Amino acid sequence: MLAMNYRGPQRVRIDHKPMPEILHPEDAIVRVTRSCICGSDLHLYNGNVPDTRVGMTFGHEFTGVVEEIGSDVHKLKVGDNVLVPFNISCGKCAFCKQELYGNCHEANPQATAVGGIFGYSHTAGGYEGGQAEYVRVPYADVGPTVIPEGMDLDDAVMLTDVVPTGYQAAEMGGIQKGDTVVVFGAGPVGIMAARCAWLFGAGRVIVIDHIDYRLEFVKNYANCEVYNFRSLEDPVLFIKKTTDSLGADVCIDAVGAEAAGNAMQTITGRKLLLQAGSATALRWAINSVKKGGIVSIVGVYGPTDNLIPIGNVVNKGITIRANQAAVKRLLPKLIEHVQNGIINPKELITHRMPLEEISDAYRIFSDKLDECIKPVLMTSAK
Ligand SMILES: NC(=O)c1ccc[n+]([C@@H]2O[C@H](COP(=O)([O-])OP(=O)(O)OC[C@H]3O[C@@H](n4cnc5c(N)ncnc54)[C@H](O)[C@@H]3O)[C@@H](O)[C@H]2O)c1
Ligand SMILES: [Zn+2]
Ligand SMILES: [Zn+2]
Repeated sequence: MLAMNYRGPQRVRIDHKPMPEILHPEDAIVRVTRSCICGSDLHLYNGNVPDTRVGMTFGHEFTGVVEEIGSDVHKLKVGDNVLVPFNISCGKCAFCKQELYGNCHEANPQATAVGGIFGYSHTAGGYEGGQAEYVRVPYADVGPTVIPEGMDLDDAVMLTDVVPTGYQAAEMGGIQKGDTVVVFGAGPVGIMAARCAWLFGAGRVIVIDHIDYRLEFVKNYANCEVYNFRSLEDPVLFIKKTTDSLGADVCIDAVGAEAAGNAMQTITGRKLLLQAGSATALRWAINSVKKGGIVSIVGVYGPTDNLIPIGNVVNKGITIRANQAAVKRLLPKLIEHVQNGIINPKELITHRMPLEEISDAYRIFSDKLDECIKPVLMTSAK
């Protein structure tokens, strides 16, 4: 089968790999129909995630058709059209029972902090990903969800990560009616977080980035205010000034470890890897939220040692909430929102490319070329 193959930082190509096989009675084999590239894949692509092995296939946002099921799979049948959450979770451990599907204690034998994720390095379990014609899906009765009749596959694939992550970012912000919410990052996740902030009652939504076409997009898509941080002398001061010197009620970090905007963070976190990524957006979030406010983090960071102003967190009495999105918990509500037109995720898809063009797709998304918001790879395997 054809599959993406990681060869080292900024080098991916399409290759032939052996077909995946059922390795456990709870596995299914899925023929992929759509597979996205995510901002999280860029952390892998740029070599910023430990234990990202040459030869691995990335891809944790995909839809497909069930081709084969193990003897202990009961909820799926061959031929089902499914969307597959990016989390791999057992459904039975103490954390899955609390619907913390991003924190499964069983699916990732390599670590206790993060659960399993498709195609996300050996730190997230070493599972092969969905940027391929076929993929093995473990715990097939837990994650995969049959796509409702009539739902566009482009909407369905966005429900595997971007929609739930943006929604959970807003949810974790504990937004109260009338709150001012600042979202750092106008990538797909930040765009969705800004849109969802209104659903929780925000009174004002501000998005900060430095890529004008993305700011323009989110301004229209999420009906919010937008600012390019390169044109602000100091984003923190700006946010304070525009909130009567109090600070924002809620700040959302939808940027993560590869933030731009501060040379020292960029050099120590992205170039020299002396800390687990550049924490520029997170610093801005902590410093511009009001005292007693909430910082919601969905941007991904390495596990240890970031230059984060933790003293300010204590002195300002800030609540920090963060997680990988618990996709399965949110799916019933979000499927309804998509069906009712409250969220239109496929509008974020700017590029539809054949899987064979994966290396171009990564370059376009990574370098923010051609006004790219979200690229989707289409496979043609039958
Ligand atoms: N927690 C989860 O479950 C989860 C799920 C999906 C993605 N993520 C993470 O969310 C983040 C965003 O994902 P995406 O797909 O939108 O990525 P993306 O790379 O498309 O978007 C990130 C955006 O942040 C902007 N940015 C860079 N520095 C900034 C700064 N200092 N302030 C404001 N904006 C800045 C970039 O210009 C870019 O537009 C990534 O870190 C990704 O790994 C987390
Ligand atoms: Zn993703
Ligand atoms: Zn579990």
